[in-house]
Amino acid sequence: MQAVETELRPPGQETDVDLHIVAFCCHFCAYAAADLAGALRVQSPPTVRVVKLPCTGKVDVLLLLGALEHGADGVMVAGCLEGDCHYQRGNLHARQRVERVQALIGQIGLEPERVRMFNMSSGMGQAWADAVAEMDAQIRALGPSPLRPTAPDGLDSLIDHIDTTDQEGGDAQVRACSARPPSSASPGRPES
Ligand code: FES
Repeated sequence: MQAVETELRPPGQETDVDLHIVAFCCHFCAYAAADLAGALRVQSPPTVRVVKLPCTGKVDVLLLLGALEHGADGVMVAGCLEGDCHYQRGNLHARQRVERVQALIGQIGLEPERVRMFNMSSGMGQAWADAVAEMDAQIRALGPSPLRPTAPDGLDSLIDHIDTTDQEGGDAQVRACSARPPSSASPGRPES
């Protein structure tokens, strides 16, 4: 499966501490907001790597834990505003999973703030910029994750193998929510 990935690190820009933040973004809202921020030339921290998903409902607990295990110092999940998910409840499922992971990593002594959920609309480019700046500052204050693996390419490998398609194989099509089994899925809203 093809992973859609955008690297926001400006060419040649280095950080004093090479931190890695993975942002799992909904195609319809957060990814579009990131695009808008880029078009408006709003500065983004160089630490954030964006992975586009059809809906944040695609994110599960194992994916979030896997990102941490494979070298992410922080993980963002950024989806549509609550009530505006194109798959109806995908972003609500995502929030529950983020909260579950925050509780789990807290139990092993890792800071729960390393995993955060954000919501925004496609027109909220500044909200995207604020979210990544907030996350960058948070992770910079916490420092590198103690879970970092010794293999430096672990995170790249994980991202390369993320399934970014929806259940029926289409990339970011409005069909059934990937958070629900096919038998219970209902049609999503038409794309606005
Ligand atoms: Fe955007 Fe579900 S979070 S479509």
